[in-house]
Amino acid sequence: MTKGLRKGLTSYGDPDFSLFLRKVFIKAMGYSDDALERPIVGITNTYSDYNPCHGNVPQLIEAVKRGVMLSGAMPFAFPTISIHESFSHPTSMYLRNLMAMDTEEMIRAQPMDAVVVIGGCDKTLPAQIMAAASVDLPTVVVPVGPMVVGHHKGEVLGACTDCRRLWASFRAGKIDESEIDQVEERLAPSVGTCMVMGTASTMACVTESLGLSLPMSGTIPAPHAERIRLAEASGRRAAEMAVAGGPCPSELLTPAAFRNAQVVLQAIGGSTNGLIHLTAIANRTPHRLDLDAFDQIGRDVPVLVDLKPSGEHYMEHFHQAGGVPRLMVELGDLIDLDAKTVAGGTLRDIVANAPPVPGEDAIRAKDNPINREGALAVLRGNLAPDGAVIKQSAATPGLLQHTGRAVVFESVEDMTLRIDDQNLDVKADDVLVLRNAGPKGAPGMPEAGYLPIPQKLARAGVKDMVRISDARMSGTAFGTIVLHIAPESAAGGPLALVRSGDQIQLDVANRRISLLVDDAELMKRRRMLPPKRSPEWAKRGYAHLLYDTILQADEGCDFDFMTAKGKQ
Ligand code: FES
Repeated sequence: MTKGLRKGLTSYGDPDFSLFLRKVFIKAMGYSDDALERPIVGITNTYSDYNPCHGNVPQLIEAVKRGVMLSGAMPFAFPTISIHESFSHPTSMYLRNLMAMDTEEMIRAQPMDAVVVIGGCDKTLPAQIMAAASVDLPTVVVPVGPMVVGHHKGEVLGACTDCRRLWASFRAGKIDESEIDQVEERLAPSVGTCMVMGTASTMACVTESLGLSLPMSGTIPAPHAERIRLAEASGRRAAEMAVAGGPCPSELLTPAAFRNAQVVLQAIGGSTNGLIHLTAIANRTPHRLDLDAFDQIGRDVPVLVDLKPSGEHYMEHFHQAGGVPRLMVELGDLIDLDAKTVAGGTLRDIVANAPPVPGEDAIRAKDNPINREGALAVLRGNLAPDGAVIKQSAATPGLLQHTGRAVVFESVEDMTLRIDDQNLDVKADDVLVLRNAGPKGAPGMPEAGYLPIPQKLARAGVKDMVRISDARMSGTAFGTIVLHIAPESAAGGPLALVRSGDQIQLDVANRRISLLVDDAELMKRRRMLPPKRSPEWAKRGYAHLLYDTILQADEGCDFDFMTAKGKQ
């Protein structure tokens, strides 16, 4: 098999000339023949001045390179798109598939025998793993790691659960402008990803449980020396895999691995976004995620990790308590320990080295869970024929069974304009409905599902209401919030038929979300919907591709032609 610099030659019709030319150019960088004869490990570079979560990427690349060279191979770092959650308009999810395509094509286009992908901020790990699953070259994933915690007035703080909580206090007039300015400097005190169980932490733990990264890679804080050593070890391992030719992602991403990842997603109090990303990753392989099977896993798997927003701690505490390997020990036979990992053996080898950590309580025992059921529940009903999701572990228990009057917002813009209107007809037991915020509707399915509590209710002390939408929500958010309604309203889903004043029933115990309007009336409303037209923003470029080909939330929001089925 062709290896190293000879792989994937540029097509000039004369392979020897192609190799000669490649060597001519690369020697401009000062490489020797000895260096150029070695197996090659590619390393993605997602450093960007716009991406503070990836602020440690240069250090991690240097450490990966050291590990690769200590093992006798040659590292080559190369740039790819970098996406930061709050620097992406209209929303980072809009760009996830673009990053997946960029990463996939750059791995395919350039000569490498293995690749180390370094990512972390929300959509980056999913994009990189989707790419790795499609290319199927030996891959080691190195998450950038979570930030360390911040402190304010004797309280431990973290992005972004506390960003939302403190912003809500500011909106409700409980803290003033000078205090909100102060906490702005304290919520994100280091580089790294959000240090609560948001999407970034969720996906780092899911990646570890899929066996795609080395043990503890999901939880080591970004600024810690331990993370640099993990990067060096990942480089060493990638070099071994470059020589051995495996394991490839297809050997690791098995049904057992996907089941383990779903168990961990439920047990960590994971982000709702994690379900979309895991679905998209599975769709890049011959395997699939079944929403109802995922829900059943949630009925059997308790939330054991005590982290915000479901619990109290932060990622560094989860790490000190033993991280994902120790969690797997606590989960016992819910985890398939025969699943292989990129470390070389199986999960059985990894949990054998995960003793209990005295004095640490961020990982609970099964008989003392944070939540008796898993974090996420899948809902169905006449409002969500293809499913919806709720993070029940971060909801108000008293609202999980609730019937209320709908207050409908047509779009994110409409919601922004009217939510704080003092004349808005809204009461605390109403159900806030947001539509046209799905994969096609917004576009890119923004994290607008966390509708703010209308200001007049917030000022009266209302902290949570039932909110439903076809949007997503940050994994860091708290509330009784139904998300990912599929099909979305912009694709003709029944959410488009809801009118203010209708009754909506949420019944999480029975996994139902229902619009209490009879079928004949809904049929009449459907006939009155305006004909669908492509919006102006979807007329050209990437937006056009996205609008025409993006799949719904229950299918992972990948482009329809990128799934494994699309390849056949
Ligand atoms: Fe990057 Fe939260 S903003 S992980």
